[in-house]
Amino acid sequence: MSFSIAIDGPAGAGKSTIARMLAKQLGFIYVDTGAMYRAMGCYFTDRGIAGEELSRMAEECSGAHIDISYLNGEQQVFLNGENVSVRIRSEEAGLMASACARVQNVRETLVDLQRQLAAKDNVVMDGRDIGTHVLPDADLKIYLTASCQTRALRRFNELREKGVLCSLQDVEEDIRKRDRQDMEREISPLRMAEDAVLLDSSDLTVEEVLEKMKSLARTRYEK
Ligand code: CDP
Repeated sequence: MSFSIAIDGPAGAGKSTIARMLAKQLGFIYVDTGAMYRAMGCYFTDRGIAGEELSRMAEECSGAHIDISYLNGEQQVFLNGENVSVRIRSEEAGLMASACARVQNVRETLVDLQRQLAAKDNVVMDGRDIGTHVLPDADLKIYLTASCQTRALRRFNELREKGVLCSLQDVEEDIRKRDRQDMEREISPLRMAEDAVLLDSSDLTVEEVLEKMKSLARTRYEK
């Protein structure tokens, strides 16, 4: 039986940084489910579909074949054979991901892929609905959050490091929009699973969050 850790939470809470490090230290596979929604978002953008055109997305999503593979332990995302791992990191791709994540057909396709990955290996999987829907029997569920200002500042610094020009105010607005879209959608909205552990990272360093998660994982793993 494989062991699974589900990490959910809003944009910019630090999920992917922490989940990647946690997986590495535990020797687990890191599954970034947001990257799959982002790849799907790129597919629709390439086809000239706008964020509001949900029925077109439902009709056309069967044309998007998304695959995951690992290169030196890093997740690579392929969209119809093209490696889109870099392209999916823009703010536009994030908003488009959140737009298409409201579509049932899109979610079903990606949830299938996520469950297949978790059945094969020990995983740390992060996203919005992992503990509530994708892996309801995960061995450890964590809801990682932080204040909206902290999350916006982190995302702003991350973008600046990559050389992307943007204002803190715009980044905060994007984050608020995405939070609203993710929490208010009908299908699998972002919420904390009843049996999840809440971690607020506003005043914690990455190392501190990681230590807390590792000690939680150890208690469950050794049970
Ligand atoms: O890294 P960040 O928190 O900015 O976002 P992400 O994890 O890359 O996810 C991008 C978008 O995909 C989110 O805003 C969600 O709308 C959607 N998503 C989802 O609906 N369910 C998931 N399991 C993962 C992502």
